[in-house]
Amino acid sequence: MGYKELKFPEQSVFLVTGCAGFIGSNLVEAIINMGYIVRGLDNLSTGFYRNIEEFISHPNFEFIEGDIRDLDTCKKVTEGVDFVSHQAAWGSVPRSIEMPLYYEEVNIKGTLNMMEASRINNVKKFVYASSSSVYGDEPNLPKKEGREGNVLSPYSLTKKVNEEYGRLYKELYNLDTYGMRYFNVFGRRQNPEGAYAAVIPKFIKQLMNDEPSTINGDGKQSRDFTYIENVIEANLKAFNAPNESAGHSYNIAFGGREYLIDIYSQLENALEKSMQPIYGPDRNGDIKHSNADISKAREFLEYDPEWNFDKGIQAAIEWYKENL
Ligand SMILES: NC(=O)c1ccc[n+]([C@@H]2O[C@H](COP(=O)([O-])OP(=O)(O)OC[C@H]3O[C@@H](n4cnc5c(N)ncnc54)[C@H](O)[C@@H]3O)[C@@H](O)[C@H]2O)c1
Repeated sequence: MGYKELKFPEQSVFLVTGCAGFIGSNLVEAIINMGYIVRGLDNLSTGFYRNIEEFISHPNFEFIEGDIRDLDTCKKVTEGVDFVSHQAAWGSVPRSIEMPLYYEEVNIKGTLNMMEASRINNVKKFVYASSSSVYGDEPNLPKKEGREGNVLSPYSLTKKVNEEYGRLYKELYNLDTYGMRYFNVFGRRQNPEGAYAAVIPKFIKQLMNDEPSTINGDGKQSRDFTYIENVIEANLKAFNAPNESAGHSYNIAFGGREYLIDIYSQLENALEKSMQPIYGPDRNGDIKHSNADISKAREFLEYDPEWNFDKGIQAAIEWYKENL
């Protein structure tokens, strides 16, 4: 069953934190389209008002500009909320290596504030963004929950700590938490700008503008690139999952494996461009290969991703062609 057929009690209220970001704004859109009430929280630090502008006058959407580092804000926005999808955080491994204290404040303290506020306000389900980077230096593929290595960056550590709190909040307070270990998500509204942008939107924009792209390392690194629709499905299926599956973390990916250099060529072909990339040094904190075993999410969340890489990249390219 696709997520659009899921049914939640009428008048259910959903809160999406990080609603002006890439994943958050897509969740807002999906949940509004399903007919439910959505509240969105964002401090517009890495997200953009333009990502939510089209929903702002929708009767079922309310935007609150605020910061997850402030517990009172978190308490206020979770009042009367049934389901929380907590996406607000600072991303990027290299940036976290430059500013670890900030990551601790936003990603750890902010997430703890959101869990605590959700506990106080009797939220039914608390689904939060974790990351495949919690696997750290574990070399075996595919990545499987329960087989993690040592984390390689402050960012990854913040996600690991989030997961520990997620487990504890289920055990100690019976808050139903679900950690979503996203694997390199891509799709509409992902920011192509800046030094810390994700590779797919960055390559697309550079190719469209006839600018050379830099590939870190030899380009032979691989990732389980995951289209945004699969991530929306995972969040909504987690809201619908039984209580016994709470307190755990789940790989959220398609279960495929794409090489960076091949993606670059695929984008060149699709955009009818030809541009020799520049090869840069390997990035600190990066791993060579990543590919997910998604059987745990399939079994316990009924996650059944419908968008493979090729279908997703075509949809993403179409969106960027119209919107860049
Ligand atoms: N995109 C991916 O490939 C990926 C992979 C793994 C994990 N994640 C996680 O998924 C979540 C969403 O990522 P994204 O790609 O949409 O990033 P994003 O930067 O587009 O969105 C994050 C949003 O959170 C907001 N935010 C940041 N700090 C905040 C604060 N203190 N208070 C309130 N709002 C704040 C930002 O303004 C932004 O709108 C993050 O937790 C990220 O770590 C993303």
